[in-house]
Amino acid sequence: MIHIPKAEYTRRRKALMAQMEPNSIAILPAAAVAIRNRDVEHVYRQDSDFQYLSGFPEPEAVIVLMPGRQHGEYVLFCRERNAERELWDGLRAGTEGAIRDFGADDAFPITDIDDILPGLIEGRDRVYSAMGSNAEFDRHVMEWINVIRSKAHLGAQPPNEFVALDHLLHDMRLYKSAAEVKVMREAARISCAAHVKAMQASRAGLYEFSLEAELDYEFRKGGAKMPAYGSIVAAGRNSCILHYQQNDAVLKDGDLVLIDAGCEIDCYASDITRTWPVSGRFSPEQKAIYEIVLASQEAAFAEIGPNKHWNQAHEATVRVITAGLVKLGLLQGDVDELIASEAYRAFYMHRAGHWLGMDVHDVGEYKVGGEWRVLEVGMALTVEPGIYISPDNQNVAKKWRGIGVRIEDDVVVTKQGCEILTGGVPKTVAEIEALMAAAR
Ligand code: GLY
Ligand code: MN
Ligand code: MN
Repeated sequence: MIHIPKAEYTRRRKALMAQMEPNSIAILPAAAVAIRNRDVEHVYRQDSDFQYLSGFPEPEAVIVLMPGRQHGEYVLFCRERNAERELWDGLRAGTEGAIRDFGADDAFPITDIDDILPGLIEGRDRVYSAMGSNAEFDRHVMEWINVIRSKAHLGAQPPNEFVALDHLLHDMRLYKSAAEVKVMREAARISCAAHVKAMQASRAGLYEFSLEAELDYEFRKGGAKMPAYGSIVAAGRNSCILHYQQNDAVLKDGDLVLIDAGCEIDCYASDITRTWPVSGRFSPEQKAIYEIVLASQEAAFAEIGPNKHWNQAHEATVRVITAGLVKLGLLQGDVDELIASEAYRAFYMHRAGHWLGMDVHDVGEYKVGGEWRVLEVGMALTVEPGIYISPDNQNVAKKWRGIGVRIEDDVVVTKQGCEILTGGVPKTVAEIEALMAAAR
């Protein structure tokens, strides 16, 4: 299995600590276990920030980073070993494992945190935490601070500054290292195989969930624990619902099916959309729309590279899509004016992409100082233009209604431009029709 090497977690912690103000402390909680119903839990997924800094896969844990601390800068609070619980639920690292296997300098039982953490915070001027994203943890932080305040008359010094950690940490996460790109390539490779499998399996009479099952099988077989987000398998008019998740309609001859799905490897997402005809042949209308979306995506790729700004790719898709819709008679007027009035938004109502990484809609600012961010080597993003003609759109001829097409790939910015991570799944009309014909 391809994964992030241990040394990288150390490097990340050091890089974050190097950016923290002198005499400060950072505190981050693990994700909580979420209850699904009664005593059934959702599959556990570590919090992305916590995972990024530790690789520690367990709940009920807290990372504490204390730059310059003599007895060790990285303290991990975690669950203790417990033979009874481990018999039922699986192994735990315990405090020894936290040090031995996860690089902690010091580790304490999570049950002791209220007694120990105020003492670690005391004397530090600033506290970094993900303020506002976890109300319960925010309250804990304040309780620990209040313990120190209550001892002020004894000379205890509570911190006076509270700083949002997100800005530093999320900017780090935006730039993918070679190891991260390697993991993302693997997630992309498995997701490509899954889309190919679903294309080959596509038949009228099956259900949307039949194709979802093909995806899940390939994801799991490739070692992915779960999809990076709820898979969208949208046939016919459902393809015009952007975040459709019902996935229970029947696949009909003559319809398109749009699949937006990707797996997650070592907490790194892939995010691919392909749209194809259920029975393997595009109708003339479906093909006409598809070719516009594909051309707009190609135009976007050309606008991704160092020194190009975030919005250039989006602008490229808007221009190609608007011009294409005018050519087909679906929009009337001057292309520049239609772009200025955003007339295309009746058909193309989302942006051309988003940052991609540990979260499918990854962290990182899109604007800096009010200006679109300039792309740099290592940034990863999706490129996902689409055209959706509502089944209820009375302004267009009937033959166009209910056609929804999106094409989505994942890229990483390189010195030369960008590397497409998800090239392993057919995309042109000819390629898709050939692959599907061979599978019949
Ligand atoms: N799968 C959600 C998205 O493409 O943004
Ligand atoms: Mn996406
Ligand atoms: Mn997607």
